[in-house]
Amino acid sequence: MTFNFDTPPERGGTDSQKWQKYAGRDVLPMWVADMDFEVAPAIVEAIRLRASHGIFGYARPVRSTVDTVVGALASRYGWRVDPSWIVWLPGLVCGLNVATRAFAEAGDEVLSLSPIYPPFTTAPRNSGRVPRSIPLALNAVARRWEMDWDALERAVTPRTKIFLLCHPHNPVARAWAQDELARVAEFCARHGLVLCSDEIHCDLLLEPGARHRPLVVAAPGAAARTVTMMAPSKTFNVPGLGASFAIIPDPYLRSTFVRATAGIVAEVNIFGFVACEAAYRDGEPWRQELLGYLRGNRDFLEGYISSDIPGVRIEAPIEATYLAWLNVKELGLPNPVKHFEEAGVGLSDGVAFGAAPGSHVRINFGCPRATLARGLERMRAAVRSR
Ligand SMILES: Cc1ncc(COP(=O)(O)O)c(C=O)c1O
Repeated sequence: MTFNFDTPPERGGTDSQKWQKYAGRDVLPMWVADMDFEVAPAIVEAIRLRASHGIFGYARPVRSTVDTVVGALASRYGWRVDPSWIVWLPGLVCGLNVATRAFAEAGDEVLSLSPIYPPFTTAPRNSGRVPRSIPLALNAVARRWEMDWDALERAVTPRTKIFLLCHPHNPVARAWAQDELARVAEFCARHGLVLCSDEIHCDLLLEPGARHRPLVVAAPGAAARTVTMMAPSKTFNVPGLGASFAIIPDPYLRSTFVRATAGIVAEVNIFGFVACEAAYRDGEPWRQELLGYLRGNRDFLEGYISSDIPGVRIEAPIEATYLAWLNVKELGLPNPVKHFEEAGVGLSDGVAFGAAPGSHVRINFGCPRATLARGLERMRAAVRSR
């Protein structure tokens, strides 16, 4: 291995949200979605170089940054994107909030699939739009989370305006297949919905050789109604640098979206642009090793949970991301997160994702294998002692 994922720098006592939450307590933070790995050396070097310039005025992306992003979209997904379609954003939670304001009025309804990353439902709520989250169906035979098409059809009303898709889906780690994406596109076209596809986890497909398929590549006819959101942040572990983008091919949709950002959405900062370019241009060897390491962590997690932690279940394969959705219902704990925290592991509560109280937690396995092992040992002890 060229890169060291086993012994990253200490994050305790730093500006990390993830680690500050449990400052002064012996709790391993395995909640918010950033990884405890040092980023690709190429990113650090690019930032160092830019910092040495010593002037940090208002930023615009330079030509090479845009060309690198456009080149990456073409080479990775076969998606030809015109640079004018790109709208830079300081984050994709911001993008979700902008989209719901841009394409729906107060009182209008915004569809998504639950369980779901919380901003998919809080974004509509923040501006008086109404989230309608349709439960995913667990196909127990195929061991696969699937969209419940009948429920989706029933959920549409004259006030439904937007479908927020998460692809791959946080927290159930599904990378949607071609037929599912095509059906989402057809559904949105038939009901006149704007389709917002958050593809922030797109470069974290864990199966060797798996290739992300953007919704708009799976269903080219949907381009005129689709806002695709991407970022280097999850894959290359730079979310604190705030560089993300929406790709909006349709001029009317794009200008409506940009209008909703006016005066309230901050510019991307200089180091975000620099990291973005370095990540997509030079980060591929690091990403390939990262994927191997994450695959190892995922396999370790799945093996450990199924053999050593009775009452905790992973219901379907983790196809993407470094996040695992754990069913803990059988433990019968009223507040599983609190119980595990008391045993020294900080997880995310499934309730925030739309799960029933006591039913699910999410674990972040983007950490050194030894940390993951320690966290799982603590979970095993917590389960035994309940
Ligand atoms: C699906 C999804 N969208 C957006 C984000 C966060 O985006 P940002 O940090 O760019 O606001 C996350 C973070 O976990 C996520 O899982």
